[in-house]
Amino acid sequence: MGKNYTVFALALLSLPLAAEDFQGSDHPLEYDQEPIKYSETQPNDPVAALQAKILSGEVSLAWDEKFGYLPAVLDAFKVPRSSQMLVFSKSSLQRKNISPDNPRAIFFNDDVYIGYVPGAPLMEISAVDPVLGGTFYSMELEKVRKPKFVRSSECLSCHGGQRSLGVPGHILRSVPTDEAGELLTQEEVRDINHCTPIADRWAGWYVTGKSSAHRGNLIGEKDLAIYKDDPLAKANASDLSAYFDQSKHLTTGSDIVAFMVLEHQAHMHNYIARLNIDARQMLAAYGHVRYMRSQVNAFLRYLLFTEEAPLPSPISGDPAYVQAFTATAIRDSKGRSLRDFDLQTRMFKYPCSFLIYTQSFDAMAEPIKAVILQKLFDILTGKETDAQFAKITAEDRLAVLELLRETKKNLPDYWRN
Ligand code: HEC
Repeated sequence: MGKNYTVFALALLSLPLAAEDFQGSDHPLEYDQEPIKYSETQPNDPVAALQAKILSGEVSLAWDEKFGYLPAVLDAFKVPRSSQMLVFSKSSLQRKNISPDNPRAIFFNDDVYIGYVPGAPLMEISAVDPVLGGTFYSMELEKVRKPKFVRSSECLSCHGGQRSLGVPGHILRSVPTDEAGELLTQEEVRDINHCTPIADRWAGWYVTGKSSAHRGNLIGEKDLAIYKDDPLAKANASDLSAYFDQSKHLTTGSDIVAFMVLEHQAHMHNYIARLNIDARQMLAAYGHVRYMRSQVNAFLRYLLFTEEAPLPSPISGDPAYVQAFTATAIRDSKGRSLRDFDLQTRMFKYPCSFLIYTQSFDAMAEPIKAVILQKLFDILTGKETDAQFAKITAEDRLAVLELLRETKKNLPDYWRN
């Protein structure tokens, strides 16, 4: 009795802490109802824009004997091939076709993600809609007269719940597998974002590039046992030809720097969608967003990398990916950009997400955006002294403040003075 009471009291004590963390409130939101009406609403995302161009004849997608519409779709969305990452766990839609011998490839840029499994019938596409969050489509890889992106609700069974912050969104997981790519049920499955320690990342994925120990390239219990003795045994791979026939894929490699970006970005997209959808529902119900203080803090902690997992050793990957990622950098007069990598002790040189420039950030409901921009300004100018943000050094605050002042459009006037 006494013991139970203590447990109960402890649970109560820990409540405020959990509530402060966004991940403590990742319950699915009712996004199919007013005011979002996810399924009924026509998306306004890069896929809808390309689909319109295909229909009007402005763009036609070339079909490739080996890869179907994949190369043409990547080019149409300007998704770099060097972003290829390979996953062999049977954790997604076309699981039958996925295995360590036939991994699924994922490619991405700032607002489109593409999945391709050699020999499987469908290409899978997720995109970012400024109001709806993640949007999901499939496209037949077979040759047809007019290739079509088909919006699919079956994707939401995995992409519309707890695994993506309770909103339609993107998923990344570390899934230890057996030799066939099936989940090893006795091992831990983890969601991955930029807070996940490197040592816990990438089970179920191939990874090329240099870093400290991680769980990539481990297939089956035998490899997991090797990992326990020698955590670096399978890390630092430069070539995957020993694992599977690479000619089935568009390019070689499964780049570690691309992983780092994807993991930051996918979760940031989910946060933006969560905050926006939550805010629009609050506005509809109460007419204000005053109940969202803890969500705003959690959002800003992620935006500003305060809980980023430190890098135990420097990371390096394919220079082609770094080049493609930084090609679209917006720079200030000192040449600085939020896309500049550090990769020595942390991901980026300047700790603020480059997704702050995106349409989905700007399209957040005005009242919540106003709160975020005010608090961000207070953090960067040192007025906000909350311990949650204490880790950000004065130097970093100033650099990010100066950078945003020069490069971010539509900031409120008080940012300029
Ligand atoms: C059975 C669960 C499941 C279903 C159903 C599913 N996915 Fe996924 N998806 C995943 C998981 C898990 C990942 C993470 C990578 C992995 O394990 O393959 C993922 C990752 C992705 C990615 C990479 C980026 C992102 O958004 O997470 C894309 C693109 C994607 N899925 C598209 C789709 C589309 C389109 C559909 C529907 C046509 C779909 N998926 C249905 C589980 C699923």
